[in-house]
Amino acid sequence: MKIGIDFGTSYSAAAVVIDGAVRTVRFGDEQQFRTTVYFPEAVPDANQFELTDALEGEVDALVRSARAQQTRAASEAVAARREQVARLPVDQREAALALISAPVQRSDTDLRRDAIRAVRRHWLEQQVREARASAASLQNAVYGEEAVEAYLAEGFGNLVQSPKSMLGYQLAPNVRQTIVGIAAYILEHIRLSASQQLGANVRSAVLGRPVQFRSSMGAAGGDQALAILTEAAAGAGFDEVSFLEEPVAAALGYHAQSAHRHRTLVVDIGGGTTDITLAEVGGAEEPLVLGSWGIARGGVDVDLSLSLSRFMPLFGRGATRVPAHHFVEAATVHDVVRQRDFQRRDSYREVAAPFGPRLIALQQGGNTTRLSRAVESAKIVLSARDDHRAELDYIEPALALATGAQHLAQAAEPFLGFLSELLREVGEEIGEPPAAVFLTGGMSRAPYVREAVQRCFPSARLVAGDPSLGVVSGLAFAAARAA
Ligand SMILES: Nc1ncnc2c1ncn2[C@@H]1O[C@H](COP(=O)(O)OP(=O)(O)OP(=O)(O)O)[C@@H](O)[C@H]1O
Ligand SMILES: [Mg+2]
Repeated sequence: MKIGIDFGTSYSAAAVVIDGAVRTVRFGDEQQFRTTVYFPEAVPDANQFELTDALEGEVDALVRSARAQQTRAASEAVAARREQVARLPVDQREAALALISAPVQRSDTDLRRDAIRAVRRHWLEQQVREARASAASLQNAVYGEEAVEAYLAEGFGNLVQSPKSMLGYQLAPNVRQTIVGIAAYILEHIRLSASQQLGANVRSAVLGRPVQFRSSMGAAGGDQALAILTEAAAGAGFDEVSFLEEPVAAALGYHAQSAHRHRTLVVDIGGGTTDITLAEVGGAEEPLVLGSWGIARGGVDVDLSLSLSRFMPLFGRGATRVPAHHFVEAATVHDVVRQRDFQRRDSYREVAAPFGPRLIALQQGGNTTRLSRAVESAKIVLSARDDHRAELDYIEPALALATGAQHLAQAAEPFLGFLSELLREVGEEIGEPPAAVFLTGGMSRAPYVREAVQRCFPSARLVAGDPSLGVVSGLAFAAARAA
């Protein structure tokens, strides 16, 4: 049995078509899950080594014993030399004695440095042993919203959020391997859930892909992303996978529910990317795809912009000398390397209150994740209401932030600019406006996004598709055709 998989930046889902009807795979009680995985096992991090009082005691003991050993070795060396001199002819002894000097002793600083190294090595070995011995292991990975909850409750371990955002970036070989492994865990979670619910060993899938992946390497980033996903799918137990552009999939899904043939622009606005397809859909004929476009911008860009403009000033952005990129690192929770960079800095002790202590609080376990959740919630709540209040007492007692619709409007402006520009280009390229614009993707729930789309195609009928399931339904139809 072949399934459709929407491996999304923010949410993932899977579905099949059975007797002409789409059946989604359940994840707990939901039809999708947050593309987040938590590994409870804390992989030891040598940079977390700190000289506690107990370890300081071990260092002192090592220094004392090294110093005593050094003194003993020195006096033994002098004694041995004296014995040699005693065996020389009498007339040579005085000159030889004058040449005897104690061997050079290593300074206390050197001895202490070596002692710290030894204590650190021992500490790290112990961490590895403890991690291995703990009941939690990589096999106990937790997915979705539960992953975030487990991570925040445990306060340790590794939380990987939105790995899709990293697929097209320049990756050190070990980071690439980690990402392949993480994507494999997620795809395996999907494969096993589907197999169990469908009563079949699922081994093939049609995977959605954006028209343009988020990438730091242009088109090569897209190639890398597909290579990583292919490798990950094999690791997850899929014998065969193919890829289909996400908006093309959404067009297939819309086709299946359209009685009459018409020319439609499918617009899928997700967390990481915005993807568009023009297609003739509906009626008895096969759907006809006429073109696809995409930009690597989506909901997470609005989140980042809102975080920087509204939340980060609470941490000194614009009011201190803390470099601007530190705030971007703190806000970019899907980027494990940037998160580590932010969490390891020890320069915030020198930043004046209240900003320094708040930055230090932000560095503590899980707080960047809590903050990014607060930012996303503000964005979502402000789609339906005019104000939002975020309680930030995990940063400072009684700290809270009110955000109004006007703040979100400002933060969303750059994204809406890119979206409108893309729609304008598409409009120019296709000439005659489409009869309908079919909207899907989580960001299509936002009224300002729908309005921006309608402004670009005022004569088209706006069709609100299921924001969460538009793409995966189409992938399920594609899987059924290919099977
Ligand atoms: N009511 C809402 N108002 C504004 N934004 C929303 C709302 N609901 C969800 N979102 C946003 O939609 C985005 C997720 O959309 P979706 O699930 O379609 O993305 P995805 O498929 O995971 O990502 P992509 O397709 O880009 O890989 C998130 O940025 C989320 O914050
Ligand atoms: Mg999507």
